[in-house]
Amino acid sequence: MKNIFLILLSITFIATSCQSEKKPEKEKIVIGSKKKSSPEFDLGKELFKGKGNCYSCHRMDKKSIGPSVTEIMKIYKEKNGDIIGFLRQKKDPIVDPDNYAVMKTNFARLEKFTNEELKAIELYMNEATAK
Ligand code: HEC
Repeated sequence: MKNIFLILLSITFIATSCQSEKKPEKEKIVIGSKKKSSPEFDLGKELFKGKGNCYSCHRMDKKSIGPSVTEIMKIYKEKNGDIIGFLRQKKDPIVDPDNYAVMKTNFARLEKFTNEELKAIELYMNEATAK
């Protein structure tokens, strides 16, 4: 009787541990991954330079009012940062906290952006600067 109980217990254990392994992983942009063109990349580029107005403060390779996109992506890769979290004000600045006040002026406008739009901006920033 005791043995049956033990067998049942191990079966339950195996079954539940298999289940937790099967959980689908959330799709995540791999920072530093290779440049490629896609509809999402094009959307990100359009938002970054157009409606998002990001380009007026962020150039690709050199600092202007804000840090360069290359610099931002380098630090986000090193520190495993979360750009969308930052743009949604859920994460603190990790690149240049002293000038956070300037970047903060964008957040009210960014609230109107959908998650897909923010994801496209992140993808563009990543792929446009990837080597
Ligand atoms: C008015 C100028 C200005 C505009 C417009 C602007 N930024 Fe910034 N941004 C800054 C400054 C200054 C910093 C440095 C302060 C900081 O790190 O928060 C910064 C920092 C950042 C950072 C790094 C944050 C960190 O962790 O420190 C990201 C990511 C970023 N901007 C994305 C964007 C995106 C995307 C847009 C367009 C939707 C945008 N910025 C528009 C000025 C601007």
